[in-house]
Amino acid sequence: MRFSTCSTLVAGLFASSAFAAFDQNRGGAVLKAPEGQSFTSVTGTFTVPTLSGPNKLSIWVAIGDTLEQDIVLKGGITYSNGLTSFASWYPDNETDITSDVPIKAGDSVTVTVSLPEADKSTGTVVVENTTQNKKSTQTLPIPAKVEDPSKLTSLAADWFVQAYQNAGELVRVPRFGTITFTKTSATLANGTTVGPTGAGTFEIQGTSGQIYSRTTVAANGITIRQLQ
Ligand SMILES: *[C@@H]1O[C@H](CO)[C@@H](O)[C@H](O)[C@H]1NC(C)=O
Ligand SMILES: *[C@@H]1O[C@H](CO)[C@@H](O)[C@H](O)[C@H]1NC(C)=O
Ligand SMILES: *[C@@H]1O[C@H](CO)[C@@H](O)[C@H](O)[C@H]1NC(C)=O
Repeated sequence: MRFSTCSTLVAGLFASSAFAAFDQNRGGAVLKAPEGQSFTSVTGTFTVPTLSGPNKLSIWVAIGDTLEQDIVLKGGITYSNGLTSFASWYPDNETDITSDVPIKAGDSVTVTVSLPEADKSTGTVVVENTTQNKKSTQTLPIPAKVEDPSKLTSLAADWFVQAYQNAGELVRVPRFGTITFTKTSATLANGTTVGPTGAGTFEIQGTSGQIYSRTTVAANGITIRQLQ
């Protein structure tokens, strides 16, 4: 994945521009834990947009291990010709939970991911259709590549809309309009719950640097608006 000037500026919000390691296909917000702290749980609620066409999109909530986001406990939904729901501890494979939590446009979905400070060998992902009370709780083992769970840092709280590249070509984004994460909060290891204020923002970008989204962070939520 290439880095564009714009995302370098965005990453510059944080002193260490460690964000550069992940791809440029995501719009949304990342809150970094305060010095000496880590996250034990992150939650957010969104309404599933009406999506159509061949291009793929995911909407998810996560705890990223570091700002590089190479180990990520996450849950959410994916559109790829149809709507599915998933839980995963990246880079291990996703668990498809659609049979427990089927998804339709207009559904209100709440995702909560939790990783206890005392024992990081198991993460929990809860995906819930709040209106209909359909819920899946997945208990996931640490990804195979992590040798020592106690070394995980749980530094990042993530709320993302992710587009996908097509054979290295420009990002193809289905029309999603505006996606808003509400009831966004994250709990620190010391028990304090914080809102998204202060989170850094990311935008979905094409390989030519074209920007496809505009993210805004407010005390009560995160909005990702599609451009053009
Ligand atoms: C993950 O999925 C890929 C592709 O389907 C498969 O080849 C691989 O074995 C899976 N890995 C695990 C750990 O299940
Ligand atoms: C989820 O909730 C919506 C209402 O927001 C409802 O129309 C839909 O049928 C529910 N889906 C499932 C799978 O329960
Ligand atoms: C937890 O840590 C945060 C950030 O360091 C701090 O603002 C908060 O006061 C702490 N809460 C408690 C209960 O110690």
